[in-house]
Order: sequence, then C-alpha cells, then structure tokens
Amino acid sequence: MAKQRTVFVCQQCGAESPKWMGRCSQCGEWNSMVEARFAASEETERILSSTRPQKLSQIKITTQKRIKTGIKEFDLVLGQGIVPGSVILIAGEPGIGKSTLMLQLAAEIDNCLYVSGEESVQQIKTRAQRLESESQKTLFLAETNVEAICAQIKELKPKLFIIDSIQTSWTSDLTGTAGSVGQIRESTSKFLKLAKRENIPAFLVGHVTKTGTIAGPKILEHMVDTVVYFEGEKFSSARLLRVNKNRFGATDEVGVFEMTDKGLSEVTNPSRLFLRQRVKKVPGSVVVATMEGTRPVLVEVQALVAPTSLAIPRRISQGIDSRRLQLISAVLSKQLKFPLATFDIYVNVVGGIKIEEPGSDLGVALAIISSFKNFPLDSKIVCFGEIGLLGEIRIVSQAEKRKKEAKKLGFTTIISPEKFAFINQAMKEIFK
Ligand code: TYD
Ligand code: MG
Repeated sequence: MAKQRTVFVCQQCGAESPKWMGRCSQCGEWNSMVEARFAASEETERILSSTRPQKLSQIKITTQKRIKTGIKEFDLVLGQGIVPGSVILIAGEPGIGKSTLMLQLAAEIDNCLYVSGEESVQQIKTRAQRLESESQKTLFLAETNVEAICAQIKELKPKLFIIDSIQTSWTSDLTGTAGSVGQIRESTSKFLKLAKRENIPAFLVGHVTKTGTIAGPKILEHMVDTVVYFEGEKFSSARLLRVNKNRFGATDEVGVFEMTDKGLSEVTNPSRLFLRQRVKKVPGSVVVATMEGTRPVLVEVQALVAPTSLAIPRRISQGIDSRRLQLISAVLSKQLKFPLATFDIYVNVVGGIKIEEPGSDLGVALAIISSFKNFPLDSKIVCFGEIGLLGEIRIVSQAEKRKKEAKKLGFTTIISPEKFAFINQAMKEIFK
C-alpha cells in the first residue's frame, strides 16, 4: 500500500497546505496549521455504508456491566466504574502522580495492559516494588508507536489498556514528531477506534502545562468520552480527582487521595486530612465548610493582614481566586470602614486544595477580620456563605450537608447566612 499522504490544515479557516507554515496564508492566523492524514476515498466509502439510520423503536438498549476499578474514589468519580469501550483521559501536571495512579489501578484489574512511553519496564518494576503492588496479572509494554501498540492490543485482548502518555505516542501515518498537535490527535483517534471496535476501555494519560491550554490534552477533550483532571499542589500530599466531562455519568463528583511514600491512598474523610495540622487559637485562621462535588469538606482558611510599604497594597491568594479576594477586601474596607488600603493581605487555603465555589467568601472575610483585629476565633466555629457587594451574606447551596459535616467533626458554632444577614452583624457578634 502506498504511504498515506499528509496535509497541513488550518484549524481556523480550513485551508490546506502540503507544507507546515507558521502562519496560514489564507486567513493569516498564527500557529494554526496542524498535520492531518488524507483519508483514502475507499476507506470513507466503507465507513459510509456500514451504518444505517434507525427509528427509536428499532434501537435496542444494551446495558453494559461497568468494570469496577477496585479503587472506591475512582469508581465514584467515573460513576460506578468504567463503561466497556469508553476512553478516559487522565490529565494533570507532570509529577502530580498520574503514572502512580494508573499503576495502582492496573494492579486492581485482571488482565490489564499498561503501555508506557516514558519509562522502561525496569523503571516500572522499581516503581511497582516501591508501591508494594506487584501484580502478577498486569502486562507491561514499553512502546510509543501507535500501530505496534494497537497490534499488541488486538492480539492480547486485555480487559483494559492504559497509554502513558498520549504525548509520547506517534503514528507512522504522520511525519510530525510525537507531541505535536497532529500526532496527539491522530494517535488518540486510533486508540478511540480500537477501543470502540474491540469494546476494550482505555485510559489515556495526558500532561497539561501550568497554563493548561497549549498542544496538550485540551485539544482531545471533545474526542474522548470522559475527562478526569488529577490535581493538587506538588509539595503537599492531597490529590483531587475531578471529572470535567463524562458521557456516562455526572460531572460533580470529586475523588480525594493522599500521596504517601507507598503511593496514593484513598481518603474517605477529606475534612480530617485538611484539618490535620490546624493550629488553634491563632488570629487569622477560620474553618470553612465548602463543597467538593457532592461532598462537604471542611478546610482551614488563613489570612495575614500586614502593613504595606507599597503604594498599591498586595492582595495575594493561594487556593482561592485572587479577584474574589480583591472583592472581599473592598467590601470590608467600605462596609466595615477598615483602612485596608494601607495593608497587604495574604490568604491561603491549607492543604493545597483550590476552592472554586463562593461559599468560602465568609470564611475569607472572617479570617481577614481576625488577622486585622489580631483576635483569634473560637476553635469550634465553622462558617460558610457568599458575600455580596453590599456586605450582605448570601445563601449558598447544600447548607444542611455542610452543617452535618461540621457537627460530625465536633464543631459547635455554625456561622451561616441564616444566622447573620450582613457581615457587620456577624463581626459585632463574633469579635465582641
Ligand atoms: P508520577 O506518578 O510519576 O507523576 P506523573 O506520571 O503525573 O508525572 O509521580 C511522581 C511523584 O510522585 C514524584 O514526585 C514522587 C511521588 N511519589 C510518591 O510520593 N510516592 C510514591 O509511592 C510514588 C510512586 C511517587
Ligand atoms: Mg508519568
């Protein structure tokens, strides 16, 4: 068979070129040319003739049994296990623990094929020894060529296959190097077809960079069935598994793990993990009841308010959006008449967790007030609530779940929107 012809297609206007160009000659867009394979017309015809339109009444529903991973947090996130034939992208920053997670998963499943393009089989063995999970049933392969990998999968018919990572995979159909947008897309498309045809589920590992967008797994998100982000701060031990897209389940579940010296361990009570090192009776510390997916989690929010030497004071936040911090400090300046313009404010969410919901606003505000007044909060206080521009404390979702979790962990005073309508009322009451 003659070698497939490849072309470079502009992702903006669709113009084709036989050569790669930094700028599309048609629309002038920069960096938009991506290598693509020219499908032979024969192949297209075959695809066209293989499917027929059907009426709803003709369509049979076959409920497939999901494969349990044996890792509870993982099953929870995927929606009760892996759907046969589905392709799941595991995305995360380098070094966060994707390979560790995949290796632990592989050990739990009979007849799994783990393909690594980043490590040799010896390195994998050393890692498995360290994890003390030397599964006898998992097969390992160090290979990067997509055709070679697919041939092995067709022959072995594993129950599941893992590609670590998609950035190291390359297909002989394209001339570009592994990791280029064209290669990543074409490789994924081949693994997808194989997974669907053979009904074997697949995990694709993808690295994301700090900015998250460039030539990484972002371009694959619409191709795969499920996208799972593995996140956390590299230097703290908490790791969160968050679903971003799921064709077979909900996207609001979050799995919590802890990185230990023996690999990842499941965390069934995240609040205990995040409050483990809490120092009580210190100004600037507040416990917040937040939601991670459908689960309530208690975390400690710390604030430090210190006199500034700058014309424009610093507003630095870790774990919450810095714009949110600016808004809260503006509200406190205006409504409580705090002279915050002459103070730097630092806010940190302990444990490397990121809070995205506004329910943490009240906690941030109370931590700032506590640090500013140099007045510690009672250690039995938990709070939640959104802060509006007028200084009002607004109702947030799942209040009952948050309260229940707080009570379970021994907190007795709950500061919520039901108790105080405005931040100045809450301040007068708490800091009296
Ligand atoms: P790894 O799974 O290689 O990350 P990724 O595949 O996402 O790039 O994880 C690497 C980090 O995890 C590394 O910094 C060491 C740490 N680690 C542990 O803390 N404990 C362990 O048991 C293992 C295997 C790794
Ligand atoms: Mg890795």
